[in-house]
Amino acid sequence: MTKKKVAVIGATGIAGQQFLASLINHPMFEVTTLAASLRSAGKIYKDAITSDNGSLQWFCQGDPPSPFLKLKVENVLDINPKELDLIFTAVESDAAKEIEPRLAQSTPVISTASAFRGDQDVPIFIPGVNMEHEQLIPVQKLKRQWKGFISPVPNCTTTGLAMALKPIQTAFGIKKVIMTSMQACSGAGRSPGVIALDIMDNIIPYIPKEEEKVHFETKKILGKFSDNVIQPADFLISTTCTRVPVLDAHTEVVYASLRTKGSIDQVKAVLRSFGSEFVQMGFPSCPSKLIEVLEDPFRPQPRRDRDNGEGMTTTIGRVREDEALENGIKFVLTSHNTKMGAARGAILIAEYLAYKGYI
Ligand SMILES: NC(=O)c1ccc[n+]([C@@H]2O[C@H](COP(=O)([O-])OP(=O)(O)OC[C@H]3O[C@@H](n4cnc5c(N)ncnc54)[C@H](OP(=O)(O)O)[C@@H]3O)[C@@H](O)[C@H]2O)c1
Repeated sequence: MTKKKVAVIGATGIAGQQFLASLINHPMFEVTTLAASLRSAGKIYKDAITSDNGSLQWFCQGDPPSPFLKLKVENVLDINPKELDLIFTAVESDAAKEIEPRLAQSTPVISTASAFRGDQDVPIFIPGVNMEHEQLIPVQKLKRQWKGFISPVPNCTTTGLAMALKPIQTAFGIKKVIMTSMQACSGAGRSPGVIALDIMDNIIPYIPKEEEKVHFETKKILGKFSDNVIQPADFLISTTCTRVPVLDAHTEVVYASLRTKGSIDQVKAVLRSFGSEFVQMGFPSCPSKLIEVLEDPFRPQPRRDRDNGEGMTTTIGRVREDEALENGIKFVLTSHNTKMGAARGAILIAEYLAYKGYI
């Protein structure tokens, strides 16, 4: 099979690096183009990720894949999207607003940025959760008269939450969700990022714009496609998003009031069996389980569980009844923010969309 030619825009950042770490030797996609801001444009990739004091700023496990180190980083304005089959973007929202529409006129863009998540004709996919929202892609292409399209992944905190809620919503219905997150530092990106002196020995109880994103996106992802739009799910949601001194993986404490009562064994069973049809499709980046439920009350922990399923499995523990809510349940989840929550999740979406003929 001829590999599809792929660009990574924002290749020097935290999410961009995870794209490169995940795309090396990919069976369907070949990275032919790297781009970043004017700060990096024109440099070879190795120099672009080397700081002024000479240290390599590589934020993934292991070393950067050597084939990328020699590639030139382009100015995004110099990229001809018509020469590419697919573009992954990992830039801040303001930059994405400018960059993505130009590229999507000719080529599919799978984005980690929030810029277009709120647009009615734009789906926000989570692998195995809402793939039926693919019906929005032709709607978007027709409306915008584009040959490509924009398909963002959710905010990395939404990913684990919506993944866990989907099987519960399907089996029991959901009236209300309350969630408190403990989010990793890598989720804030490299620049400006989280300052070490702020976060060491500390917890920061506010992440600007995060809670609004989680509320909107969770309801959109768990909503129904009908009449060419997504009708958002109708449960109430309340969240508090905090930053904690953890490197990777967001941990979330979730309380839910169900429409019909489910026993804890039934809740665990629907979580455990979720996603098997999607997994059986056998995409290269798909884990063997989308969700794993652990019985050990000391799990999940970000350090021990973030790389479950190579960072693509949402790990859930402490599933219990909650007597303060009607038909109440509660649990704790951990989800890798730069893998399933950003680059690898975006790659898995691309694998699915390529299989369905959208790319
Ligand atoms: N980090 C996560 O866990 C995570 C998870 C989900 C979603 N996201 C989203 O992914 C996006 C990237 O986040 P990040 O954490 O990787 O940020 P980051 O580490 O700060 O990296 C930002 C990247 O964007 C590039 N860039 C900035 N302005 C640009 C422009 N005008 N044109 C082209 N490239 C430009 C930077 O290039 P230079 O190196 O040249 O400055 C860098 O490669 C954001 O929208 C973020 O919300 C991140």
